[in-house]
Amino acid sequence: MNILFASSEAHPLIKTGGLADVSGSLPRAILGLHHDIRVIIPAYREILKHAQQLTLAAYLDLEGVRLPVRILSGRLPGGNVKLYLVDSPPHFDRAGKPYTTSSGSPWLDNAERFTVFCRAIHALAVNDAGLDWQPDIVHCNDWQTGLVPVMLRETSAAPASIFTIHNLAYQGLFDWKTFQSLKLPDDWWSIDALEFHDKFSFIKGGLIFADWLTTVSPTYADEICTPEFGCGLEGLLTLRKQSLTGILNGADYTVWNPGRDLHIPVQYNLRSLFHKIENKRDLQEHFALPVDNAVPLFTVISRLVEQKGIDLILEILPDLVKQNAQLVVLGSGDSQLEAALQQASARHPEHIGIHIGYDEVLAHRVEAGADIFLMPSLFEPCGLNQIYSLRYGTVPVVRRTGGLADTIVDTTPETLADKTATGFCFHQASATALWSAVERALAHYRKPDSWAQIMDTGMRQDFSWKRSAQQYVELYTRIIAQHKYGQILESNVIQ
Ligand code: ADP
Ligand code: GLC
Repeated sequence: MNILFASSEAHPLIKTGGLADVSGSLPRAILGLHHDIRVIIPAYREILKHAQQLTLAAYLDLEGVRLPVRILSGRLPGGNVKLYLVDSPPHFDRAGKPYTTSSGSPWLDNAERFTVFCRAIHALAVNDAGLDWQPDIVHCNDWQTGLVPVMLRETSAAPASIFTIHNLAYQGLFDWKTFQSLKLPDDWWSIDALEFHDKFSFIKGGLIFADWLTTVSPTYADEICTPEFGCGLEGLLTLRKQSLTGILNGADYTVWNPGRDLHIPVQYNLRSLFHKIENKRDLQEHFALPVDNAVPLFTVISRLVEQKGIDLILEILPDLVKQNAQLVVLGSGDSQLEAALQQASARHPEHIGIHIGYDEVLAHRVEAGADIFLMPSLFEPCGLNQIYSLRYGTVPVVRRTGGLADTIVDTTPETLADKTATGFCFHQASATALWSAVERALAHYRKPDSWAQIMDTGMRQDFSWKRSAQQYVELYTRIIAQHKYGQILESNVIQ
């Protein structure tokens, strides 16, 4: 199959979160299954600065764009996946982050930027770019690619489309004036199309018009059909439930493997677990915490946003300190959450270390050095860090929601006895519930035998992409066949 994989970020070229991890590794796994998958992302300045061996593949004249848009072609680093970059300098060649300025305010022209991106994806998909290649299916990811399925629906003999929801809370909503300025067909502003509570919704393009929908864990696939998690789109998603599949994300163990990780001071694996202590010492020194192997070291690596339950962590900090535990936080995001964490660290420098910012290398050192990983998310489509933590023997404490529920097995007398326990789960989104899971974790931490068993079971878990990539391939095959069949039926009706 020929597959065009469209995403607004891909590791290691550009990353703001887990979407980049997925876009950097799933295509490689699918290429490994012998399908011609190609990734398309915007040519942000950050990428142009570092990307190597790019060639000019095409010029596109796109509606509503004054200058021609260049399609640059290269390879996604770390593998052999072919890469297309959408190079429209007025939209993507600027200092700052993919969706925001350096200080975190959304770019005012985001709607225009990602409409251009979608138009370029569409041009490649329908073979308007003059490349000697055309996909059988376009795999779109998140709202930034949401217009592609609508554009494809309006083109005859277009390839099939699949839309993956990585996070329903980000919908790409813009006002009427912005919609008008994009020069899109007027009838797209309709409740049956992309209008959503008097706003123009990019994500609805994917949710309504893609041939198939997926999301990144089976539990989240069920959750988003309920008012609690559906962000107002639960009705629409329930209608499409027959074409909605939850496929769990995989981990890239070439990047996240303590046995081979060159970012950490001392590599270790199941047989040399004693080396983890040296990584713990490195982390305690780095954050100027007392160096003591007996003290339980908790960590958080996260975007600091409401979704991640950072409030709950702030609430349990006094109790953590009372228990003489340590906490290291690596994250950035909401300025109030950043400030609250910084204040807590200033108040308890012997217990709480904080690094505000995005630091890939430090993320690896933190995974390797910590004992316990906290992820009390209010909702979590999949979550990757708890999966990485398992491999690093850093026992996760998670809220039982979305992908967290699908990846972590709570420690109970039964799961200890049958050796399936890998972490600690709690249900209620409250500090009390989080604290009782933390207390359970601390009780086991003090029993070296059961702690060693939980770490051991976690480190043996295999969340590599193999199974999920196979599931995507099976789905692509089915959707392409259905799409072609649908087109044949339609053309018969027209005749
Ligand atoms: P989300 O995509 O919602 O942010 P995920 O758990 O799926 O959550 O993915 C987060 C990814 O971003 C992980 O690879 C994690 O290591 C990384 N990450 C998050 N915050 C930071 C940070 N401050 N520094 C380095 N890496 C980070
Ligand atoms: C989103 C979700 C996260 C998921 C990631 C990759 O950012 O918040 O749970 O792991 O996408 O699919």
